[in-house]
Amino acid sequence: MTDTGAAEEQFREIEAGTAPERYARGWHCLGLSREFRDGKPHSIQAFGTKLVIFADSTGELRTLDAYCRHMGGDLSQGEIKGDSVACPFHDWRWNGNGRCTDIPYARRVPPVAKTRSWHTLDQDGLLFVYNDPEGRPPPAEVAPPRIPGATSDEWTDWKGFKQTVVQTNCRELIDNNVDMAHFFYVHGSFPTYFKNVFEGHVAAQHMNGVSREDIRPPSKDGEPELVGNSSSAAYYGPSFMIDELTYHYDRFDIESVLLNCHYPIDANSFVLTYGVIVRNSEHLDAAAAEKMAENMGAFITKGFEQDVEIWRNKIRIDNPLLCEQDGPVYQQRRWYEQFYVDIADVEPDMVNRFEFELDTTRPVESWKREVAENLARRG
Ligand code: FES
Ligand SMILES: [Fe+2]
Repeated sequence: MTDTGAAEEQFREIEAGTAPERYARGWHCLGLSREFRDGKPHSIQAFGTKLVIFADSTGELRTLDAYCRHMGGDLSQGEIKGDSVACPFHDWRWNGNGRCTDIPYARRVPPVAKTRSWHTLDQDGLLFVYNDPEGRPPPAEVAPPRIPGATSDEWTDWKGFKQTVVQTNCRELIDNNVDMAHFFYVHGSFPTYFKNVFEGHVAAQHMNGVSREDIRPPSKDGEPELVGNSSSAAYYGPSFMIDELTYHYDRFDIESVLLNCHYPIDANSFVLTYGVIVRNSEHLDAAAAEKMAENMGAFITKGFEQDVEIWRNKIRIDNPLLCEQDGPVYQQRRWYEQFYVDIADVEPDMVNRFEFELDTTRPVESWKREVAENLARRG
């Protein structure tokens, strides 16, 4: 080999990897439970298949595989008859436990006539189903946390509630939980404090932030001025995040709870769901709290649209190249993996407590400088 003098410079290759073939084990929120109580069966595309959700005669919501085990009819196109959903194809009746209860034209129901039923939970106005590729029942300790404000008169109802299809694997959304820097560059705010804590099935993010003055519209005379926010958010399981979010104004605070959850449609798309409730206070009567929650809903929509725009154009990357001021992406992905392996294969490093507080000194210095420069340029 001849010596050419300069060695070829090494560069980093992206390892794109492929999305997992199974769906995360855990409770997934499908939306507002009241929407499923209109006396009709509803279809949901999720976990690579179609589900049917219906209310039985006691009003309890039930979830089954939508495709009828007789000849493949779609139960969500059928009718609710008593405690069962009736297939539109030949009227076989399936109850909430997945048992075929009646075939009106047949002398008897075949003893093996059972379809898959899904554990379903109606809590705080939200409907959840439990996915487990191993078919085990949900352990009590992974139940979605209660949201006291959701059923309290001191808080608004869910507002700004939205569900939208995103065409990418849901890990992109999870990655955001540790991604401090994107708040400045994508969302027009920046964290002054940022810490993640993972333990068991929970991945938390604690953050204090300020909005970018060079982007935010100046507040009108006499109106309270938004100074910043503090947020304590956590994923409970693979897909259900609750964010206790307080907005600090110059004269008072506003308390809210933000819901950020999703369920996979298939490996390369998911339904993103979000909404907010706001607490009434002496500074915010019930009507004002509702208005505030609606406005926040619009604000959150904008935030998610900013993320979606990034996801629409980026690719999956299994080996992100990180700097010191990035969050613990690899550790969080390890935490996330616990939901994609059999229970017997969950490793201690997926569930052990892990804490990571980012040193925000350097990022905050640089962001303040950038904001000041932008403001000066504007004059
Ligand atoms: S396919 Fe459902 S009853 Fe025949
Ligand atoms: Fe984001």
